[in-house]
Amino acid sequence: MNRLIESIHQELLPGLRIESITAHNPVEVHKIPSPWQLLGTGNYAAVVYHPDHPLQVVKIYALGRPGFEEELEVYLRLGSHPAFSECLYAGENFLVLKRLEGVTLYDCLHLGLRIPERVIQDIDQALDYARGRGLYPHDVHGRNVMMLEGKGLVVDVSDFLHKETCSKWNNLKRAYYWLYRPLFSPLRLRVPYFGLDIVRTSYRLLFKGKRMANTVGVTMLLVLAATIAITQWQAQSSRCVRYVLDGSQKTLYGEDCKY
Ligand SMILES: Nc1ncnc2c1ncn2[C@@H]1O[C@H](COP(=O)(O)OP(=O)(O)O)[C@@H](O)[C@H]1O
Ligand SMILES: [Mg+2]
Repeated sequence: MNRLIESIHQELLPGLRIESITAHNPVEVHKIPSPWQLLGTGNYAAVVYHPDHPLQVVKIYALGRPGFEEELEVYLRLGSHPAFSECLYAGENFLVLKRLEGVTLYDCLHLGLRIPERVIQDIDQALDYARGRGLYPHDVHGRNVMMLEGKGLVVDVSDFLHKETCSKWNNLKRAYYWLYRPLFSPLRLRVPYFGLDIVRTSYRLLFKGKRMANTVGVTMLLVLAATIAITQWQAQSSRCVRYVLDGSQKTLYGEDCKY
């Protein structure tokens, strides 16, 4: 751990350039010093790891984004639970966390990975556990929850001290039971990132003031229709795109598309 902390101060912090442009879009990463690798970004922070310390991640808050002390407090209250990470060290504006090896549900939709119901149930149980520890699950959405070997994990707990009700998780569950299980999963549909971003943005704009929840449903159906149309068109022209976990994509032709 000491070597990691040293490397954070000597290599990572002096060389890293991240910027949060708006509070409702992921931070932008301009530069990461080698050999550090980016694992993900949220609206407040970037999460990176060092290849010599693959079991830990460093979550660095962008300048001017709050929440760092609160997240630390949440981890103290959570203690140890299989569905959550743990805070191993806290520095100035950064936290060293236990690495969770899963794929976010957002990326699962993009990659076309099947999300079993157990994932949803595990996350529900984990959120109940958090409530039992005096916390208020908040901001639980597709980029903040993960799937690992068919089990559910909660990767971002930074807003769990906020007492206001937050319906994101309940809405995500609705979308899972109404749209994902009957349509996306059996048709093995992959949603391109631009489709996911349309859902994300329309959710924020339309759902915020409790206005027209149905519009969100309609947007999701439009994205669904577009995804089906693209998939069909690709199948007709006997070509398909396969996404790989590292985010890259490959175009396959003819028979290869069946596998
Ligand atoms: N402990 C972790 N292990 C592995 N990946 C993580 C971990 N924490 C965060 N990530 C990745 O980084 C992304 C951003 O982290 P997050 O905590 O959601 O930041 P923010 O608080 O800015 O929303 C997540 O969506 C996830 O992909
Ligand atoms: Mg997040």
